Amino acid sequence: MEKATAELKMMWDQRHADPDKQPSAAEVLLENLHLLPETGNALDLACGLGGNAMELARCGLEVSAWDISSVAVERLQHLAASEGLVLNAEQRDVEQDLLTENAFDVIVVSYFLNRDLMPALIAALKPGGLIFYQTFTRIAVSDTGPSNPAYRLGDNELIALLSPLSVRFYREENRLGDLGKGFRDVAMIVAQKLAMKRS
Ligand SMILES: C[S@@+](CC[C@H](N)C(=O)[O-])C[C@H]1O[C@@H](n2cnc3c(N)ncnc32)[C@H](O)[C@@H]1O
Repeated sequence: MEKATAELKMMWDQRHADPDKQPSAAEVLLENLHLLPETGNALDLACGLGGNAMELARCGLEVSAWDISSVAVERLQHLAASEGLVLNAEQRDVEQDLLTENAFDVIVVSYFLNRDLMPALIAALKPGGLIFYQTFTRIAVSDTGPSNPAYRLGDNELIALLSPLSVRFYREENRLGDLGKGFRDVAMIVAQKLAMKRS
């Protein structure tokens, strides 16, 4: 493992070892569970403690969950076993390991942003497949999330990054209205890869 990768892994291992930190699924998934297929396979990319992966497994999907942190992956494996859920949690550097094309019916990404990976994520969806994506925006009402603006989305950027897909749900509240209410500081999207038309 390269030095930079090893340092990244160590940093996330330390964060994920905190016993007070518990997994939670992203709102974009919880608010849109009704859009999931009844069967199929799903990937929770950069899963952390795997809140999304657990929710997808509870919905009956065949789940893979990948993260660079072996601590996170082990905690997720134990949690899934304790609930009697089957999922495949693996330690992987998703910036190095290539995604297979047409591999998943559902991909969920929350609070991880690498713009260079977007074409590979889109290619990894099967025709008809859905991506659920949620992460921090630059325009925000609080100081949660990364301070480096490069790791935050610009206005409507998720739509642009996933433009080859069809948008099924989108929410980005910016600083409109009553700032004490709503889903602030994040953008969320559910988008679908359309099936190829036969000529
Ligand atoms: C802010 S956390 C989000 C975790 C989870 N998706 C969630 O919403 O709780 C970012 C995650 O990305 C993972 N990560 C960062 N770089 C990665 C890489 N190159 N390959 C795989 N995982 C990575 C970290 O280990 C961490 O678990």
